[in-house]
Amino acid sequence: MHINEHKLPAFNIYNSQILQVYDFWVLGMTNLFFWKCPTRVITEKFEISLSKNHIDVGVGSGYFLDHCLKKDTCRIGLVDANKTCLSATSKRIKRFRPETYVADIRDPLNVETEQFDSMSLNFVLHGLPGTMDEKSVVLGNVLKLLRPGGKLFGSTVLCDSSLDTGVAAKTLMKIYNKFGIYSNQSDTLNELKKVLNEHLDYIEIDIVGCVAVFSGSKKSTSLEMDNIRFPVSPFLFSEQ
Ligand SMILES: C[S@@+](CC[C@H](N)C(=O)[O-])C[C@H]1O[C@@H](n2cnc3c(N)ncnc32)[C@H](O)[C@@H]1O
Repeated sequence: MHINEHKLPAFNIYNSQILQVYDFWVLGMTNLFFWKCPTRVITEKFEISLSKNHIDVGVGSGYFLDHCLKKDTCRIGLVDANKTCLSATSKRIKRFRPETYVADIRDPLNVETEQFDSMSLNFVLHGLPGTMDEKSVVLGNVLKLLRPGGKLFGSTVLCDSSLDTGVAAKTLMKIYNKFGIYSNQSDTLNELKKVLNEHLDYIEIDIVGCVAVFSGSKKSTSLEMDNIRFPVSPFLFSEQ
């Protein structure tokens, strides 16, 4: 299992000291001045995409959930490989009594629970090691927790020469890649589109600075289609 074998900097770096400065440094400074994607843009994506039965994958400090979850949220799930992130976020949104799952999403998830109606995967893809094809496998792993037709949304920092990536952003990205905090050197917009297309319908991608803010609906696989019961007889629709 990955989680016992090698702790990735992409999740191992988040100890309680880092989490204390995360909102200021990552969401306040880096998004605005390096990636040129103000946190407000992502907050808006959360606000329009969250359902009342939501799961957040890669929770960090819990900032977006704390600011965007509506009072009438019925169920909220949290998935992360890092227990410090899970406990900080659980505490921050304890008013919603979250379900927490410790899991390295590079492995098939061993989580027995009802599927959720929406899922956020925000600032996680760029930290996963490997090519976009390998990240596609990870996406397949987490999507098991989302019902067919449910909405997946999030954002990821791309490394794509066609995007607005200034010198400061390139330098910071290089440093993060060197230390394994990011692994996004082959994450182009075309590669992202390809991966999202494999799993989702109705895809929307907004590029803001060098960040892709995306969403789409989980495709129904034939296996899952088998479990759908039709509420009315299909014969009702046959031509007379
Ligand atoms: C950059 S933070 C993003 C936090 C939050 N989603 C946000 O947008 O502010 C990445 C989060 O993903 C988690 N993470 C990274 N790699 C992971 C993996 N392989 N399995 C599970 N969680 C992972 C980290 O522990 C961290 O909580």
